[in-house]
Amino acid sequence: MKDRKRIFSGIKPTGDLTLGSYIGAIKNWVDLQNDFMCLYCIVDMHSITIRNDPEVLHRRIREQLAQYIAAGLDYKKNIVYIQSHVHQHAELSWILGCYSMMGELNRMTQFKDMQKKHPQNLNAGIYTYPVLMAADILLFDTDVVPVGEDQKQHVELARNIAQRFNGIYGNIFTMPEPFIPKVGARVRSLTDPTSKMSKSDDDTQGSIFIMDSPDVIVKKFKRAKTDSDSLIKFDPENKPGVSNLMDIYSAAAGKSYDEIESEFVGKGYGDFKTRVAEAVIEKLRPIREKSLELLKDEETLVSIYRDGAERASEMAEKTLVKVTDAIGFLRK
Ligand code: TRP
Repeated sequence: MKDRKRIFSGIKPTGDLTLGSYIGAIKNWVDLQNDFMCLYCIVDMHSITIRNDPEVLHRRIREQLAQYIAAGLDYKKNIVYIQSHVHQHAELSWILGCYSMMGELNRMTQFKDMQKKHPQNLNAGIYTYPVLMAADILLFDTDVVPVGEDQKQHVELARNIAQRFNGIYGNIFTMPEPFIPKVGARVRSLTDPTSKMSKSDDDTQGSIFIMDSPDVIVKKFKRAKTDSDSLIKFDPENKPGVSNLMDIYSAAAGKSYDEIESEFVGKGYGDFKTRVAEAVIEKLRPIREKSLELLKDEETLVSIYRDGAERASEMAEKTLVKVTDAIGFLRK
C-alpha cells in the first residue's frame, strides 16, 4: 500500500534549463514534495528523438541533476534519477506500444507539429514518444502528473492506454491525472513574448538560463521586448512584453500584479527592467552556486543518481512483474 499519493514528472535534457523551467516546473515540484511521494526524472531517453552532440548531452544530464538538487528537490525523501538508468522504462514502453493504437498516436498534436516542422528526421521515436511517456507514468502507480499545457494530451493518452489494459487484465495500472500549475505556468521569451521561453530556442537572448551569470541576466532584461507606451500594467493581450516581465517579477519577488503596478507608477521601463533583473538574479543565485559546487563533487552526484535509480528500479520492477504476469509471459 502507498502511504502517500504519488507524483511523477520529468524534463528532457534537450537544452540548458531556463528560468521558465524553474518557475514553470521545478519550483512547483519543490512545493508538491510536502504532500506527495515524488519521482523526479531526467528523461534522457526522450531527448534522443532529435540529434544531440554526445558531449553536450552528457554535460546537460549531469548539470540538470545538479540543478534539480540545488533547486531543492529532496532526493532522500523522494526519488531523483535518470530515466535510462532504469531499464524498466524501455521494457514497459514496448509492451504498452502493443496496446496503443496508431489512430490515437496520429492524433497527438506534438507529433503532428513535428511532422510539419521536421519532415527530414521523422524517426519512429518521435511517433512512439508518448508511449514511452505513458510507461514513465504508469510504472510507478502515479496519481498526479504535473506538466505544462502542451503535455496534457500525452497524459490523457496514458490514461487511455491504462484503461484499455485494465479493461483486458483487471486492475493493474493506477489512473493518473494531469496537473497543470497556474502559477508561472507560462514564462515567455524575452525577445518574442508571444512564444514560450524555451530551453532549445536558437535565439538564446530570449531565454534566461539558470546558469547565466548576473551580467548576462542584466543584459538580456535590458534588451527584453516591451510595448510602445511606457505604462507598467498587466494586460497580456495588448501588452504581452510588459505582462511577461510582470509574471517573472511576480514569481521571483513574490509580489502581486497590483503591488507591482503601484511600485512602478510614474517610472519607466528602464527602472522596471533593472528591478526584474535584480529579483531574478537573487532568485537564481543560490541555485546556480549550489549547482556549480555539486558539479565539482563527482562522488556526491554519482551517489545521488545511483541511489535514485536503485530505488526507482525496485518500484518499477513490481509493476513490470504484474504486467508481464497478466499478459502471460513466463517468469525467468
Ligand atoms: N514529454 C515531457 C515534456 O516534453 C517530458 C516527459 C517525459 C514527462 N516523460 C514524462 C513529463 C512523464 C511528465 C511525466 O515536457
